[in-house]
Amino acid sequence: MYILAIETSCDETSCAVLKDGREVLSNIISSQIDIHKKFGGVVPEIASRKHIESINNILQEALDKAGVTFKDIDLVAVTKGPGLVGALLVGLSAAKAIAYGLDIPLIGVNHIEGHVCANFIEHKNLEPPFTCLIVSGGHTYLIQANGYTDYEMVGRTRDDAAGEAFDKVARSIGLPYPGGPMIDKLAKVGNKDRIPLPRVIIDENTYDFSFSGLKTAVLNYLNQANQRGEEISKEDVAASFQAAVLDVLVDKSFRLAKERKSDKIVIAGGVAANEGLRAMMEERAKIEGVKIYYPSKILCTDNAAMVGSAGYFNYISGKKSSLGMKVEPNLDLR
Ligand code: KG4
Ligand code: ZN
Repeated sequence: MYILAIETSCDETSCAVLKDGREVLSNIISSQIDIHKKFGGVVPEIASRKHIESINNILQEALDKAGVTFKDIDLVAVTKGPGLVGALLVGLSAAKAIAYGLDIPLIGVNHIEGHVCANFIEHKNLEPPFTCLIVSGGHTYLIQANGYTDYEMVGRTRDDAAGEAFDKVARSIGLPYPGGPMIDKLAKVGNKDRIPLPRVIIDENTYDFSFSGLKTAVLNYLNQANQRGEEISKEDVAASFQAAVLDVLVDKSFRLAKERKSDKIVIAGGVAANEGLRAMMEERAKIEGVKIYYPSKILCTDNAAMVGSAGYFNYISGKKSSLGMKVEPNLDLR
């Protein structure tokens, strides 16, 4: 089965062609980051306009790179949410037009589920059940995947998403958007024990997360240091902040894996690209006898291949969307 996948939920226009759920023939990603950078974050109106400008070219590029034409496509998969309403509409409209024109089935995909499925592309033998930590710019979930499309949500953030916290802290120390990769880089050379920061709700008997208190603690430290005329080490702030986030993410993931007797922990979403997170997970995994899975960096952040994979697994489980499907900007994980 050849799947044409479209992702336009935020600031990447991406189209991919897959053969079944795990084989990527092309995955074209056109990032708008350089445009949004000067505003310090994604500007929704600009994002929609840029998606409109590029979608047709990216579609054609994905087909060409895969060596197929529209006639070869059996299924169209598209992100229906969550995301920016105007941005989602561009991808959904294109997907509907293609499905209607070719008279082939259409499947709407939950973007968060797509992040998880990036792991099926990367790890050809990975099969559920597994414990999964989903950490992106907009979402933080701890789930138990009981099947390819059967996700039991066990914990979630009560305020900021993990990636959002990275971006906000990065901004407070003058780093450009998106701040996650920069924090990751600086953290490698900083002293993580330099600034005492809270490990928020790590001890509470819940799998939920909270990052806004941690962000405030960083801001307070910066203000006080400024008032005292102390020099601020961006490296130490990055390392101390990152360690505080990772301690909680890693601890709760392993706690859930243990509770569910799961010997696989999967990480997904943009923050899964974090090298500190990967290393800490691997280290703990050796002690606990668990195997860690994460996608290559390009499949961690937003891309259409992951949407194609999620579309495939949903389709073979019997799901299908109608041409009347609407975007769902606030779509949650089941
Ligand atoms: O999954 P994604 O591309 O978009 C959403 O669905 O939200 O995630 C983007 C987020 C941004 O917050 C970005 O700062 C973060 O992922 N990110 C990282 C790293 N690379 C990207 N955070 C920490 N370390 C990284 N290396
Ligand atoms: Zn995403």
